[in-house]
Amino acid sequence: MTTNRGKYNEISRMIQQRGHEAEQLPTPYPEVQVESLEIVVLQGLYWLMQHYERPILVDDSGLFVDSLNGFPGVYSAHAYKSFGCDGILRLMETETNRKARFECVLGFMDIGKDPMLFKGVSEGSISTETRGEKGFGFDPIFVPEGFSETFAEMPMDRKNELSHRGRAFEKLFEFLG
Ligand code: IMP
Repeated sequence: MTTNRGKYNEISRMIQQRGHEAEQLPTPYPEVQVESLEIVVLQGLYWLMQHYERPILVDDSGLFVDSLNGFPGVYSAHAYKSFGCDGILRLMETETNRKARFECVLGFMDIGKDPMLFKGVSEGSISTETRGEKGFGFDPIFVPEGFSETFAEMPMDRKNELSHRGRAFEKLFEFLG
């Protein structure tokens, strides 16, 4: 499903709350470098289906910062590994426009069926310092719209109610019925 532990924890919680079970596959699928979460997800679904032949769920997500023209976006995993939250804060040191959003594209493919994509967006802003210990990735610098805490200061269930991933899952669960 995903090799990112933080994502997996959130995803397995939401799936368990609906009475289902998820299994984390051990192999990362080869990620094509393209400017679209959707293409990464579709390519991952087909690759995993070919190798595992079971219902497949893929999550590709990223942080899009307005004043950085959408960077790191589809390159978020790489940006996080190379310079992390502090790197984003440094890039934005003198920036007053702090608007940003998280996007998540979930792909689901059942054996012999067409792939389905579900997108969730969480609007918010970049804080001026890192805050909180929970979550993963850029959570310590992302403040969702209407709140003062970062995602890293919120319990997982609260984050899942507001997050890009939580919203994409609502659509997936609606589809699955
Ligand atoms: P990918 O979807 O595996 O390509 O990785 C997306 C990257 O975006 C992660 O490694 C994180 O750095 C970041 N990201 C995606 N979703 C979240 C989130 O919910 N919180 C914090 N960072 C996230």
